[in-house]
Amino acid sequence: MNHVERLQKVMAAAGIASRRKCEEMILNGLVEVNGEIVKTLGVKVDPAVDRIVVGNKPIRSEKKLYLMMNKSKGVITSAKDPQGRKVVSDFLPGIKERVYPVGRLDYDTEGLLLLTNDGEFANLLTHPSHHVPKTYRATVKGVPHGTQLEKLQAGIKLEDGMTAPAEVEYHDVDTDKNEATITITIHEGRNRQVRRMFEAIGHKVIRLKRIRFGELGLESLGRGKYRHLTPQEVKELFDLAHSKSHKVHKK
Ligand code: URA
Repeated sequence: MNHVERLQKVMAAAGIASRRKCEEMILNGLVEVNGEIVKTLGVKVDPAVDRIVVGNKPIRSEKKLYLMMNKSKGVITSAKDPQGRKVVSDFLPGIKERVYPVGRLDYDTEGLLLLTNDGEFANLLTHPSHHVPKTYRATVKGVPHGTQLEKLQAGIKLEDGMTAPAEVEYHDVDTDKNEATITITIHEGRNRQVRRMFEAIGHKVIRLKRIRFGELGLESLGRGKYRHLTPQEVKELFDLAHSKSHKVHKK
């Protein structure tokens, strides 16, 4: 879907004036896009990204939405999939606004995914220097030793460098199946990080679910379902990202 629209259309949709009147305002040099006056009519903008100012006043931006979803396995964390697989927006009935995932979950990973149209919120929560904790439950083949889990806890070398310290504990050990389920909290968000961390200690992840993002848990949210975050939850996530900012987690 293309969300880039003509400037006068975006202005009219924001309730500034009729489209024709908006065209006049543009031609009269009253409209700025990202700090520059636009005086021609062909310009296209993305209201979610571009800052549009009319007569010194920023135009009302889209209503901010903050959602949390319990993503199922087999769903892509992106807006569209060229191969036609299911994408997260297929699971947002009733949401007309375009929202973006805050970070990613792999196709095969399930669990807590935040979605928003607030770029600042998304950037804050995904920025590597903000160290927002994310907790996963990983079921692995075989039962890792305590000493192996300590390695994950201390930080382990992956091909893109050492991981930051993590919190790691056994959740369940099934000796019959020769599987263990481990709860792991990481403060980074590298690509396939949890899977790669377990691979590095010789245990393949066979099921992965994110169960917490910051203080936020999935609670009773069903698989494939979403809900709006409460204003309090949004505030707590903002506060958390700010408080973790630039702190390095060392034990
Ligand atoms: N780590 C992974 O390996 N996969 C995810 O989807 C998230 C974290």
